[in-house]
Amino acid sequence: MNVATDDLNQIVDNFSVYGVPFPFGRRGSVGTLENWAPELSVDIEALDSDHKAFFELAAVLQDARAAGPGENDLVVRSAIDLLEDYVVGHFLREERAMESAGYPDFEAHRLQHQVFRDKVAAIAKAYRNGDLTAPAPLPDIVTDWLYAHIAKDDHAYRPCVQASHVDPAPLALMVLEAEGDDDTLL
Ligand SMILES: [Fe+2]
Repeated sequence: MNVATDDLNQIVDNFSVYGVPFPFGRRGSVGTLENWAPELSVDIEALDSDHKAFFELAAVLQDARAAGPGENDLVVRSAIDLLEDYVVGHFLREERAMESAGYPDFEAHRLQHQVFRDKVAAIAKAYRNGDLTAPAPLPDIVTDWLYAHIAKDDHAYRPCVQASHVDPAPLALMVLEAEGDDDTLL
């Protein structure tokens, strides 16, 4: 994980998005970003909740971007840390579900996840290395990719993947599991 546990708790309190249902709407200005919409639902609560969390984080990053490069550093840093964690946790949940359902296009779907994960990681790395402008495209990258990916690729697994194939654990636990998987590879 990219944040210490204590920091994580703080961030959870601040953003209220870590693996919990979404009783709240987006805050701040959302500009032209795509938002989660009911037609994006895959009819499985844990996956919809994960997807909404990405859109919420993109909105947080967009609001921070409006303040200018280098401003709101704690928010940007925390949001990027969370975004990276969400990516690994959510993709693990989705990939396990597709695998256990025997989804025939699993490998192609997994590769799409990998490309997005690498893109986010590259931006996060550039930011941590001091490029304060690196996160500027992130809100649009996240929402554009996610909207298209859910609408086309996630919806493609809907006839195959049922709720019984999906681990309903909070996203934070999926993140920890993904890190455990990583550890076993070391
Ligand atoms: Fe997906």
